[in-house]
Amino acid sequence: MSANAHYREAHPLVFVITHWVNLVCMIMLAFSGFYIHYPFFDGFMGVARGMHFVAMYVILINLIFRIIAAFYVKTAVDLGSRQVDVDIKNWLPQEKNRHQFLETVKYYLFLRKEGVISAKYGSLQKIAYLATVPLTFIQAYTGFAIYGPTQSWGLLEAGTAMVGGPMNMRIIHYFIMWVFIVFTMIHVYLANVYNFAPSKIIFAWKETER
Ligand code: HEM
Ligand code: HEM
Repeated sequence: MSANAHYREAHPLVFVITHWVNLVCMIMLAFSGFYIHYPFFDGFMGVARGMHFVAMYVILINLIFRIIAAFYVKTAVDLGSRQVDVDIKNWLPQEKNRHQFLETVKYYLFLRKEGVISAKYGSLQKIAYLATVPLTFIQAYTGFAIYGPTQSWGLLEAGTAMVGGPMNMRIIHYFIMWVFIVFTMIHVYLANVYNFAPSKIIFAWKETER
């Protein structure tokens, strides 16, 4: 692969940090969430709930910060180029994504041999990353709807009534966790399938290719 985005301009340090915060929170939320759902060993419920309650605020603040930063922080917006522009351009359809959605799906289904040369993020990547934003907010909504101190707030209570009660809301919250787990498994696989250069830059901020 010649065209790549494994250099610092493509992943400024702030986004390396927000990605780390997100990863650590996700692990804490999924682990404590599993425990709250089914306490698979004794005497940890207080800690698990505390962990969940801290991480849920941290992940939300991190996400809001990440969204605002997208409009101000400059990052490479093209594969193989260190030229920078505001990050939000990476998240919206770009000229180089045009007519690539089906081609990318074909490539992943082994119906096409060559990878699709795209903008910094390919069309599928863009859709998947972008989808994590509303999904996290929906997870926060369903979470606060089953959270004692907030569950009687009008907007939350209305949602709970709409889905047929707190038990259903809890099941939706649990189901969305699985959506995150499946997303992360595919994401981790695709990030490392060619080599570890992408992981080296996103975690260690280490450039491997010039
Ligand atoms: C983003 C904000 C989030 C909020 C406000 C939130 C809130 C909550 C609350 C209040 C509970 C119930 C805890 C209890 O009654 O002791 C809960 C349970 C749970 N949470 Fe979250 N959470 C959030 C994110 C997440 C994420 C990202 C995951 C998984 C990746 C997750 C997975 C779970 C699971 C599996 C349960 C147990 C549900 C069950 O009993 O079936 N939560 N959450
Ligand atoms: C061991 C776990 C993980 C690995 C190896 C990993 C790897 C990566 C890599 C290499 C990139 C850069 C992609 C590129 O430039 O082509 C990236 C970006 C991204 N990852 Fe992960 N990731 C992990 C966990 C997660 C988790 C748990 C989430 C969320 C649920 C997540 C969400 C994202 C998002 C939204 C981006 C877009 C970039 C940005 O925010 O600046 N990742 N990840």
